[in-house]
Amino acid sequence: MTLNQADLSFEDALASALAGTPPEERWLVPLLCSSDEDAPRLYREADRVRQQRVGDDVHLRALIEFSNYCKRNCSYCGLRHDNRRVDRYRMSIEDIERTALEAEELGYRTVVLQSGEDPWYTRDRMSEIIRRIRARTHMAITLSVGERDYDTYRAWREAGADRCLVRIETTDPALFRALHPDDDLEERKRCIVWLRDLGYQLGSGVMVGLPGQTPQMLARDVIWLHEVGAEMIGVGPFIPHPDTPLRQARGGTVEQTLRLVSVLRLAFPWAHLPATTAMGTLDPNGREKALQAGANVMMPNITPVSHRASYQIYPDKICTTDDAKTCASCVSGRLASIGRTIATDPGHVLRGADRQRAPVCDPPRRRLVVLP
Ligand code: 5AD
Ligand code: SF4
Ligand code: FES
Repeated sequence: MTLNQADLSFEDALASALAGTPPEERWLVPLLCSSDEDAPRLYREADRVRQQRVGDDVHLRALIEFSNYCKRNCSYCGLRHDNRRVDRYRMSIEDIERTALEAEELGYRTVVLQSGEDPWYTRDRMSEIIRRIRARTHMAITLSVGERDYDTYRAWREAGADRCLVRIETTDPALFRALHPDDDLEERKRCIVWLRDLGYQLGSGVMVGLPGQTPQMLARDVIWLHEVGAEMIGVGPFIPHPDTPLRQARGGTVEQTLRLVSVLRLAFPWAHLPATTAMGTLDPNGREKALQAGANVMMPNITPVSHRASYQIYPDKICTTDDAKTCASCVSGRLASIGRTIATDPGHVLRGADRQRAPVCDPPRRRLVVLP
Protein backbone atom coordinates (compact mmCIF):
# COMPACT_ATOMS: atom_id res chain seq x y z
CA MET A 1 0.00 0.00 0.00
CA THR A 2 1.57 3.25 -1.09
CA LEU A 3 0.58 6.80 -0.38
CA ASN A 4 0.73 9.55 -2.95
CA GLN A 5 2.54 12.84 -2.51
CA ALA A 6 -0.77 14.63 -2.15
CA ASP A 7 -2.05 12.36 0.62
CA LEU A 8 -2.40 13.73 4.12
CA SER A 9 -0.87 12.27 7.28
CA PHE A 10 -3.19 10.03 9.31
CA GLU A 11 -3.82 12.86 11.80
CA ASP A 12 -4.62 15.42 9.14
CA ALA A 13 -6.76 12.96 7.22
CA LEU A 14 -8.79 12.14 10.32
CA ALA A 15 -9.17 15.85 11.08
CA SER A 16 -10.39 16.50 7.51
CA ALA A 17 -12.88 13.67 7.71
CA LEU A 18 -14.20 14.85 11.08
CA ALA A 19 -14.51 18.40 9.75
CA GLY A 20 -16.98 17.09 7.20
CA THR A 21 -14.78 17.49 4.13
CA PRO A 22 -16.51 15.71 1.23
CA PRO A 23 -14.76 12.46 0.33
CA GLU A 24 -11.55 12.97 -1.65
CA GLU A 25 -8.57 10.71 -2.16
CA ARG A 26 -6.20 12.81 -0.07
CA TRP A 27 -8.02 11.93 3.16
CA LEU A 28 -9.67 8.65 2.15
CA VAL A 29 -6.47 6.85 1.14
CA PRO A 30 -4.46 7.55 4.32
CA LEU A 31 -7.38 6.40 6.49
CA LEU A 32 -7.89 3.26 4.40
CA CYS A 33 -4.17 2.58 4.78
CA SER A 34 -3.96 3.47 8.46
CA SER A 35 -1.42 1.48 10.46
CA ASP A 36 -2.38 -1.08 13.09
CA GLU A 37 -1.43 1.53 15.71
CA ASP A 38 -3.63 4.24 14.20
CA ALA A 39 -6.61 2.12 13.17
CA PRO A 40 -8.18 1.84 16.66
CA ARG A 41 -8.44 5.64 16.73
CA LEU A 42 -10.17 5.63 13.37
CA TYR A 43 -12.64 3.00 14.64
CA ARG A 44 -13.26 4.95 17.85
CA GLU A 45 -13.96 8.21 16.02
CA ALA A 46 -16.30 6.45 13.60
CA ASP A 47 -18.05 4.78 16.52
CA ARG A 48 -18.50 8.18 18.17
CA VAL A 49 -19.90 9.73 14.98
CA ARG A 50 -22.25 6.74 14.62
CA GLN A 51 -23.41 7.18 18.22
CA GLN A 52 -24.01 10.91 17.79
CA ARG A 53 -25.69 10.77 14.41
CA VAL A 54 -27.71 7.56 14.32
CA GLY A 55 -27.62 6.50 17.98
CA ASP A 56 -27.24 3.12 19.64
CA ASP A 57 -30.17 1.52 17.87
CA VAL A 58 -29.33 -1.23 15.42
CA HIS A 59 -31.79 -1.82 12.58
CA LEU A 60 -32.45 -5.47 11.85
CA ARG A 61 -33.23 -6.57 8.30
CA ALA A 62 -34.60 -10.10 7.97
CA LEU A 63 -32.99 -11.72 4.95
CA ILE A 64 -34.83 -14.25 2.74
CA GLU A 65 -32.54 -15.85 0.17
CA PHE A 66 -35.40 -16.97 -2.04
CA SER A 67 -33.55 -18.31 -5.11
CA ASN A 68 -29.96 -19.33 -5.74
CA TYR A 69 -30.38 -19.57 -9.51
CA CYS A 70 -28.21 -17.03 -11.30
CA LYS A 71 -27.71 -16.32 -14.95
CA ARG A 72 -24.41 -14.50 -14.39
CA ASN A 73 -20.86 -15.66 -14.02
CA CYS A 74 -19.21 -13.24 -11.61
CA SER A 75 -15.79 -14.80 -11.12
CA TYR A 76 -15.83 -14.46 -7.31
CA CYS A 77 -19.26 -15.88 -6.52
CA GLY A 78 -20.18 -19.44 -5.55
CA LEU A 79 -23.64 -19.05 -7.09
CA ARG A 80 -22.29 -18.24 -10.56
CA HIS A 81 -24.15 -19.93 -13.39
CA ASP A 82 -21.32 -22.25 -14.40
CA ASN A 83 -20.87 -23.70 -10.92
CA ARG A 84 -22.50 -27.10 -11.40
CA ARG A 85 -21.93 -28.11 -7.78
CA VAL A 86 -24.71 -25.87 -6.48
CA ASP A 87 -27.97 -27.54 -5.52
CA ARG A 88 -30.32 -24.96 -7.06
CA TYR A 89 -33.66 -24.01 -5.48
CA ARG A 90 -36.45 -21.49 -5.98
CA MET A 91 -38.97 -20.66 -3.28
CA SER A 92 -42.59 -20.44 -4.36
CA ILE A 93 -44.53 -17.22 -4.00
CA GLU A 94 -46.44 -18.84 -1.13
CA ASP A 95 -43.26 -19.93 0.67
CA ILE A 96 -41.75 -16.47 0.37
CA GLU A 97 -44.95 -14.94 1.73
CA ARG A 98 -45.04 -17.41 4.63
CA THR A 99 -41.40 -16.70 5.48
CA ALA A 100 -42.10 -12.96 5.46
CA LEU A 101 -45.01 -13.46 7.87
CA GLU A 102 -42.69 -15.38 10.14
CA ALA A 103 -40.22 -12.48 10.03
CA GLU A 104 -42.90 -10.08 11.23
CA GLU A 105 -43.92 -12.46 14.00
CA LEU A 106 -40.33 -12.57 15.19
CA GLY A 107 -40.39 -8.78 15.51
CA TYR A 108 -38.52 -7.70 12.40
CA ARG A 109 -39.53 -4.43 10.73
CA THR A 110 -37.85 -4.96 7.36
CA VAL A 111 -37.67 -7.94 5.04
CA VAL A 112 -34.94 -8.22 2.40
CA LEU A 113 -35.77 -10.36 -0.63
CA GLN A 114 -32.47 -11.56 -2.06
CA SER A 115 -31.61 -13.91 -4.93
CA GLY A 116 -29.21 -14.52 -7.78
CA GLU A 117 -30.18 -12.93 -11.09
CA ASP A 118 -33.06 -15.28 -11.74
CA PRO A 119 -35.40 -14.40 -14.62
CA TRP A 120 -38.00 -16.92 -13.37
CA TYR A 121 -39.06 -14.12 -11.03
CA THR A 122 -40.49 -11.95 -13.75
CA ARG A 123 -41.74 -8.42 -13.32
CA ASP A 124 -45.23 -9.75 -12.60
CA ARG A 125 -44.23 -12.56 -10.26
CA MET A 126 -42.06 -10.25 -8.16
CA SER A 127 -44.81 -7.63 -8.12
CA GLU A 128 -47.19 -10.25 -6.79
CA ILE A 129 -44.76 -11.22 -4.02
CA ILE A 130 -44.25 -7.57 -3.05
CA ARG A 131 -48.00 -6.86 -3.05
CA ARG A 132 -48.73 -9.86 -0.86
CA ILE A 133 -46.12 -8.95 1.73
CA ARG A 134 -47.30 -5.34 1.65
CA ALA A 135 -50.93 -6.39 2.18
CA ARG A 136 -50.25 -8.79 5.03
CA THR A 137 -47.44 -7.14 7.02
CA HIS A 138 -46.26 -3.72 8.13
CA MET A 139 -42.67 -4.41 7.21
CA ALA A 140 -40.56 -2.31 4.87
CA ILE A 141 -39.57 -4.29 1.77
CA THR A 142 -36.04 -4.30 0.36
CA LEU A 143 -35.12 -5.95 -2.94
CA SER A 144 -31.70 -7.42 -3.72
CA VAL A 145 -32.11 -9.23 -7.01
CA GLY A 146 -29.55 -7.69 -9.37
CA GLU A 147 -29.93 -5.76 -12.59
CA ARG A 148 -33.31 -5.25 -14.26
CA ASP A 149 -34.75 -2.73 -16.69
CA TYR A 150 -36.23 0.60 -15.68
CA ASP A 151 -39.86 -0.42 -16.18
CA THR A 152 -39.38 -3.48 -13.99
CA TYR A 153 -37.85 -1.50 -11.14
CA ARG A 154 -40.71 0.97 -11.56
CA ALA A 155 -43.36 -1.75 -11.39
CA TRP A 156 -41.84 -3.14 -8.20
CA ARG A 157 -41.70 0.32 -6.65
CA GLU A 158 -45.37 0.79 -7.51
CA ALA A 159 -46.14 -2.64 -6.04
CA GLY A 160 -44.73 -1.38 -2.74
CA ALA A 161 -41.00 -2.02 -2.55
CA ASP A 162 -39.31 0.64 -0.42
CA ARG A 163 -35.63 -0.06 -0.91
CA CYS A 164 -33.32 -1.70 -3.36
CA LEU A 165 -29.72 -2.91 -3.08
CA VAL A 166 -27.38 -3.20 -6.05
CA ARG A 167 -23.74 -3.40 -5.10
CA ILE A 168 -21.37 -1.79 -7.57
CA GLU A 169 -18.61 -4.15 -6.26
CA THR A 170 -15.87 -1.92 -7.74
CA THR A 171 -15.93 1.24 -9.84
CA ASP A 172 -12.56 0.49 -11.39
CA PRO A 173 -13.36 -0.26 -15.06
CA ALA A 174 -10.57 -2.80 -15.61
CA LEU A 175 -11.19 -4.63 -12.34
CA PHE A 176 -14.96 -4.67 -12.94
CA ARG A 177 -14.40 -6.14 -16.40
CA ALA A 178 -12.00 -8.78 -15.08
CA LEU A 179 -14.54 -9.92 -12.48
CA HIS A 180 -17.71 -9.76 -14.59
CA PRO A 181 -17.34 -11.57 -17.94
CA ASP A 182 -21.00 -10.94 -18.79
CA ASP A 183 -21.68 -7.57 -17.21
CA ASP A 184 -20.94 -3.94 -17.90
CA LEU A 185 -19.95 -1.30 -15.35
CA GLU A 186 -21.89 1.47 -17.10
CA GLU A 187 -25.01 -0.71 -17.16
CA ARG A 188 -24.67 -1.42 -13.43
CA LYS A 189 -24.23 2.29 -12.73
CA ARG A 190 -27.28 3.06 -14.83
CA CYS A 191 -29.41 0.67 -12.76
CA ILE A 192 -28.31 2.37 -9.55
CA VAL A 193 -29.19 5.81 -10.94
CA TRP A 194 -32.63 4.51 -12.02
CA LEU A 195 -33.29 3.22 -8.52
CA ARG A 196 -32.45 6.61 -7.10
CA ASP A 197 -34.66 8.39 -9.64
CA LEU A 198 -37.55 6.04 -8.86
CA GLY A 199 -37.38 7.07 -5.20
CA TYR A 200 -36.09 3.82 -3.79
CA GLN A 201 -34.03 4.06 -0.64
CA LEU A 202 -30.77 3.33 -2.34
CA GLY A 203 -28.35 0.64 -1.27
CA SER A 204 -25.02 -0.24 -2.82
CA GLY A 205 -21.62 -1.40 -1.73
CA VAL A 206 -18.33 -3.02 -2.60
CA MET A 207 -16.14 -5.97 -1.76
CA VAL A 208 -12.79 -5.48 -0.08
CA GLY A 209 -9.64 -7.36 -1.00
CA LEU A 210 -10.49 -8.21 -4.60
CA PRO A 211 -7.47 -9.32 -6.64
CA GLY A 212 -5.62 -6.23 -7.86
CA GLN A 213 -7.78 -3.82 -5.86
CA THR A 214 -5.86 -0.87 -4.37
CA PRO A 215 -6.75 1.62 -1.61
CA GLN A 216 -6.95 4.28 -4.33
CA MET A 217 -9.63 2.23 -6.07
CA LEU A 218 -11.57 1.88 -2.82
CA ALA A 219 -11.26 5.63 -2.28
CA ARG A 220 -12.73 6.25 -5.74
CA ASP A 221 -15.53 3.80 -4.92
CA VAL A 222 -16.39 5.88 -1.85
CA ILE A 223 -16.39 9.07 -3.93
CA TRP A 224 -18.67 7.47 -6.51
CA LEU A 225 -21.08 6.17 -3.84
CA HIS A 226 -21.23 9.71 -2.48
CA GLU A 227 -21.91 11.22 -5.89
CA VAL A 228 -24.63 8.73 -6.76
CA GLY A 229 -26.39 9.28 -3.43
CA ALA A 230 -26.07 5.86 -1.80
CA GLU A 231 -27.98 5.77 1.48
CA MET A 232 -27.24 2.22 2.63
CA ILE A 233 -23.77 0.84 1.99
CA GLY A 234 -22.86 -2.78 2.55
CA VAL A 235 -19.22 -3.80 2.45
CA GLY A 236 -17.60 -7.10 3.17
CA PRO A 237 -14.33 -8.92 2.63
CA PHE A 238 -13.99 -10.96 -0.54
CA ILE A 239 -13.77 -14.63 0.49
CA PRO A 240 -12.41 -16.94 -2.25
CA HIS A 241 -14.77 -19.78 -3.14
CA PRO A 242 -13.20 -23.14 -4.13
CA ASP A 243 -15.60 -23.68 -7.05
CA THR A 244 -14.86 -20.37 -8.79
CA PRO A 245 -12.06 -19.05 -11.02
CA LEU A 246 -10.76 -16.99 -8.07
CA ARG A 247 -10.25 -20.04 -5.82
CA GLN A 248 -6.52 -19.27 -5.52
CA ALA A 249 -6.92 -15.58 -4.72
CA ARG A 250 -5.87 -14.19 -1.38
CA GLY A 251 -9.16 -12.55 -0.31
CA GLY A 252 -9.91 -9.59 1.94
CA THR A 253 -9.48 -9.24 5.70
CA VAL A 254 -11.63 -8.09 8.59
CA GLU A 255 -9.13 -5.31 9.34
CA GLN A 256 -9.20 -3.86 5.81
CA THR A 257 -12.98 -3.96 5.86
CA LEU A 258 -13.21 -2.29 9.28
CA ARG A 259 -11.14 0.60 7.98
CA LEU A 260 -13.57 1.01 5.10
CA VAL A 261 -16.62 0.80 7.39
CA SER A 262 -15.15 3.59 9.54
CA VAL A 263 -14.28 5.71 6.53
CA LEU A 264 -17.84 5.28 5.25
CA ARG A 265 -19.29 6.40 8.58
CA LEU A 266 -17.13 9.54 8.46
CA ALA A 267 -18.06 10.26 4.83
CA PHE A 268 -21.76 9.37 5.28
CA PRO A 269 -22.54 10.17 8.93
CA TRP A 270 -26.31 9.55 8.59
CA ALA A 271 -26.15 6.42 6.43
CA HIS A 272 -27.26 2.87 7.20
CA LEU A 273 -24.18 0.64 7.25
CA PRO A 274 -24.62 -3.10 7.83
CA ALA A 275 -22.24 -5.32 9.74
CA THR A 276 -22.22 -7.94 7.02
CA THR A 277 -22.43 -11.71 7.19
CA ALA A 278 -19.06 -11.97 5.42
CA MET A 279 -17.49 -10.20 8.42
CA GLY A 280 -19.11 -12.74 10.73
CA THR A 281 -17.82 -15.53 8.53
CA LEU A 282 -14.15 -14.48 8.68
CA ASP A 283 -14.23 -13.70 12.40
CA PRO A 284 -16.76 -14.93 15.01
CA ASN A 285 -16.85 -11.36 16.36
CA GLY A 286 -16.50 -9.65 12.97
CA ARG A 287 -20.01 -8.20 12.97
CA GLU A 288 -19.65 -6.82 16.49
CA LYS A 289 -16.33 -5.27 15.49
CA ALA A 290 -18.04 -3.59 12.52
CA LEU A 291 -20.84 -2.33 14.78
CA GLN A 292 -18.16 -0.77 16.99
CA ALA A 293 -16.38 0.84 14.01
CA GLY A 294 -19.33 2.67 12.46
CA ALA A 295 -21.99 0.12 11.41
CA ASN A 296 -25.61 0.33 12.61
CA VAL A 297 -27.48 -2.43 10.75
CA MET A 298 -27.55 -6.25 10.89
CA MET A 299 -29.16 -8.67 8.47
CA PRO A 300 -30.16 -11.86 10.28
CA ASN A 301 -31.02 -14.76 8.01
CA ILE A 302 -34.61 -16.08 7.98
CA THR A 303 -34.27 -18.34 4.93
CA PRO A 304 -35.84 -21.76 5.63
CA VAL A 305 -33.07 -24.01 6.98
CA SER A 306 -33.59 -26.54 4.18
CA HIS A 307 -32.21 -24.01 1.67
CA ARG A 308 -29.51 -22.26 3.64
CA ALA A 309 -26.58 -24.50 2.87
CA SER A 310 -27.27 -24.05 -0.85
CA TYR A 311 -26.81 -20.29 -0.71
CA GLN A 312 -23.02 -20.44 -0.48
CA ILE A 313 -21.91 -17.20 -2.10
CA TYR A 314 -18.60 -17.87 -0.32
CA PRO A 315 -17.42 -20.87 1.72
CA ASP A 316 -18.18 -21.49 5.40
CA LYS A 317 -20.97 -18.91 5.47
CA ILE A 318 -22.38 -18.66 8.98
CA CYS A 319 -25.91 -19.63 10.07
CA THR A 320 -26.36 -22.37 7.46
CA THR A 321 -27.63 -24.86 10.06
CA ASP A 322 -29.53 -22.40 12.26
CA ASP A 323 -33.20 -21.55 11.99
CA ALA A 324 -34.80 -18.11 12.01
CA LYS A 325 -35.45 -18.12 15.75
CA THR A 326 -31.89 -19.14 16.52
CA CYS A 327 -30.49 -16.29 14.45
CA ALA A 328 -32.94 -13.82 16.03
CA SER A 329 -31.91 -14.69 19.57
CA CYS A 330 -28.25 -14.96 18.59
CA VAL A 331 -28.34 -11.44 17.15
CA SER A 332 -30.21 -10.05 20.18
CA GLY A 333 -27.59 -11.53 22.45
CA ARG A 334 -24.73 -10.18 20.39
CA LEU A 335 -26.21 -6.67 20.43
CA ALA A 336 -26.82 -6.81 24.17
CA SER A 337 -23.22 -7.93 24.69
CA ILE A 338 -21.92 -4.70 23.17
CA GLY A 339 -24.52 -2.44 24.79
CA ARG A 340 -26.57 -1.79 21.68
CA THR A 341 -30.35 -1.74 21.34
CA ILE A 342 -32.74 -3.03 18.69
CA ALA A 343 -34.55 -0.29 16.77
CA THR A 344 -38.33 -0.18 17.13
CA ASP A 345 -38.99 1.68 13.89
CA PRO A 346 -38.65 0.36 10.32
CA GLY A 347 -35.32 2.15 9.95
CA HIS A 348 -35.99 4.06 6.77
CA VAL A 349 -33.04 6.03 5.46
CA LEU A 350 -32.63 9.56 6.76
CA ARG A 351 -33.22 12.35 4.28
CA GLY A 352 -33.34 16.16 4.30
CA ALA A 353 -33.23 17.75 7.73
CA ASP A 354 -33.17 14.32 9.42
CA ARG A 355 -29.60 13.92 8.22
CA GLN A 356 -28.42 16.81 10.36
CA ARG A 357 -30.26 16.05 13.54
CA ALA A 358 -28.77 13.93 16.27
CA PRO A 359 -31.40 11.34 17.18
CA VAL A 360 -34.02 12.23 19.74
CA CYS A 361 -33.55 9.54 22.25
CA ASP A 362 -35.11 6.45 23.63
CA PRO A 363 -38.38 5.22 22.22
CA PRO A 364 -39.41 1.98 23.95
CA ARG A 365 -37.16 -0.82 22.77
CA ARG A 366 -38.57 -3.63 20.72
CA ARG A 367 -37.60 -7.10 21.72
CA LEU A 368 -37.70 -10.02 19.41
CA VAL A 369 -40.50 -12.29 20.61
CA VAL A 370 -38.18 -15.23 21.04
CA LEU A 371 -36.56 -13.49 23.98
CA PRO A 372 -37.88 -13.95 27.53
N1 5AD B 1 -16.89 -13.23 -1.02
C1 5AD B 1 -17.52 -12.20 -0.42
N2 5AD B 1 -18.61 -11.60 -0.89
C2 5AD B 1 -19.12 -12.07 -2.05
N3 5AD B 1 -20.17 -11.68 -2.76
C3 5AD B 1 -20.27 -12.49 -3.83
N4 5AD B 1 -19.27 -13.39 -3.84
C4 5AD B 1 -18.54 -13.15 -2.73
C5 5AD B 1 -17.38 -13.74 -2.17
N5 5AD B 1 -16.76 -14.77 -2.74
C6 5AD B 1 -20.99 -10.54 -2.40
C7 5AD B 1 -21.15 -9.59 -3.56
C8 5AD B 1 -22.62 -9.67 -3.87
C9 5AD B 1 -23.20 -10.10 -2.55
C10 5AD B 1 -24.52 -10.78 -2.67
O1 5AD B 1 -22.26 -10.99 -2.02
O2 5AD B 1 -20.83 -8.28 -3.14
O3 5AD B 1 -23.15 -8.44 -4.27
FE1 SF4 C 1 -25.08 -14.02 -9.53
FE2 SF4 C 1 -24.90 -12.02 -7.75
FE3 SF4 C 1 -23.30 -14.18 -7.57
FE4 SF4 C 1 -22.93 -12.42 -9.57
S1 SF4 C 1 -22.69 -11.99 -7.33
S2 SF4 C 1 -22.95 -14.67 -9.76
S3 SF4 C 1 -25.04 -11.80 -10.02
S4 SF4 C 1 -25.52 -14.16 -7.30
FE1 FES D 1 -27.45 -16.84 12.79
FE2 FES D 1 -25.87 -16.18 14.98
S1 FES D 1 -26.84 -14.86 13.55
S2 FES D 1 -26.73 -18.15 14.42
